[in-house]
Amino acid sequence: MKISEAYDRVKAIDWEPSYISPEEKTVETTKFHIHETKPNDPFKTFVREYCEQEQEKDDRHYALLEASARLNTGEPDGRWMEGMKFGLSNLVGVEYAAARAMGRMARTVAPVELRQGYMMQMLDEMRHSNLEMNVIRHHMRSWKDPVGFDVAAKAGASSVGSSIFRSMVEDLITSDPVETSIGLQVFVETAYTNLFFVGLSSHASAHGDDMLASTLLTIQSDEARHMANGWSTLSSLLQDDRNIPLIQKAMDKWSWRIHCSFGLGNMLFGDYFVRKRTESAKEMTMRWVFDDFYGGFYQKLEKFGIKPPPHLDEMISDLDWMSHSAAIYIFGAWPTFFHRYDGLNDDDFEWFEKKYPGFYEHFGGFWEAYGQCKDPEEGRIVLKEMGGLPNFCQVCQRPTIFPRPDISKQRAFKVQDQTYIFCSDGCQEIFVEEPHHYVGFKNFYDLYEGKELSQVIQELGFVRDDGKTLMAQPELEPKRLWTLEDIRKANYIVERPAPPAFLK
Ligand SMILES: [Fe+2]
Ligand SMILES: [Fe+2]
Ligand SMILES: [Zn+2]
Repeated sequence: MKISEAYDRVKAIDWEPSYISPEEKTVETTKFHIHETKPNDPFKTFVREYCEQEQEKDDRHYALLEASARLNTGEPDGRWMEGMKFGLSNLVGVEYAAARAMGRMARTVAPVELRQGYMMQMLDEMRHSNLEMNVIRHHMRSWKDPVGFDVAAKAGASSVGSSIFRSMVEDLITSDPVETSIGLQVFVETAYTNLFFVGLSSHASAHGDDMLASTLLTIQSDEARHMANGWSTLSSLLQDDRNIPLIQKAMDKWSWRIHCSFGLGNMLFGDYFVRKRTESAKEMTMRWVFDDFYGGFYQKLEKFGIKPPPHLDEMISDLDWMSHSAAIYIFGAWPTFFHRYDGLNDDDFEWFEKKYPGFYEHFGGFWEAYGQCKDPEEGRIVLKEMGGLPNFCQVCQRPTIFPRPDISKQRAFKVQDQTYIFCSDGCQEIFVEEPHHYVGFKNFYDLYEGKELSQVIQELGFVRDDGKTLMAQPELEPKRLWTLEDIRKANYIVERPAPPAFLK
């Protein structure tokens, strides 16, 4: 029997149970019209073949890790490794949420061809979160300061910086299940994962982190399939004209949503956690996301009546300042994190000024203040010196300092007699569509307003085993490590800033 024939036979085993209605079976419903479509099967793979392929990839990957651990090719770079404590803490949760999203989609989307693909992607995403946990475990055992890697999984749920990524995945796993495919498979995976898993893995390898480089590459080899799932889902939806306005709305939302979250993470990690520089994060994002995805994949949708995202120009101009604004936020809030920071040096200043003309004029002041607030003996923290943290956007959970603090598009806006704060038109529009989706998110002030900073750090659990030394440090190799006592001396009470003005 031909393989394709055997495959069709296997699919024919699918049946509708008689003891439960299709509505009850799917648990969640979708507003998209997809039940009657006949999609192209993106996978055409038997479960047995799939498992063999994945097994082979795992075998190759683990053999390489074993070899790299034994050869011990030298110490990886400190700036990179410490940054990855924060980076990896977010990634595991994103992968795990992707697995959950696939389970929901497999239950809701009727055509068996698509469900088959989702089920295999669900296994892939579990594989990814396991692989990334394995990197954390390895770094915990081999990196000279393992502290921070040990709390990574928990910190992904509680740190103030992680709320940007958490709000993204919470949105993904609670949206309409078919909309989730657009957000995850089209935007996160098709638009951004090349930048992330290929671009970032080249940084990992340049900084001696073979463990992560190999992990990211073996993960990316699964992503091609996830993009195929996204395309099959989207092309099925495009068969029915009633879907076009729904697709447009979902694409408008997720293009902005992923720009503010995954896109922001890529920019920050690519510019601020690296020392050996080849391409700026802006150049990389332009190439992988705006030329390849928006200029290629997305443009092909125009013939189906899909228009470009409404904030495309803003997304591109944001790239000039995004990484720098994100950096002053996480460097400014360093005591509430769980890794050592490496502030900018003269080489960094020169590189940034070359790649982002005007960098020093806008951000030099912060870095000078940062340099003066590193010594625990003086007990000055840059957070207090700069007037505390800004407000946070109710949708994307970014601080409202984008694209750049002095030209921030923050605003207050009233919905059903309640005032909310947003970073931009894009987030405000998303909120107004589905306020119930976002009203419940608790930000840093909802949790810690009125508390003294050392108390906040203790509650977060970002303290070393001695019960008094901070996990986070403002330098890679400080003369003395900061303690809770040093923070207490700075006497910083978390205070919610005044809301921004209402838009006229
Ligand atoms: Fe994944
Ligand atoms: Fe994926
Ligand atoms: Zn926002």
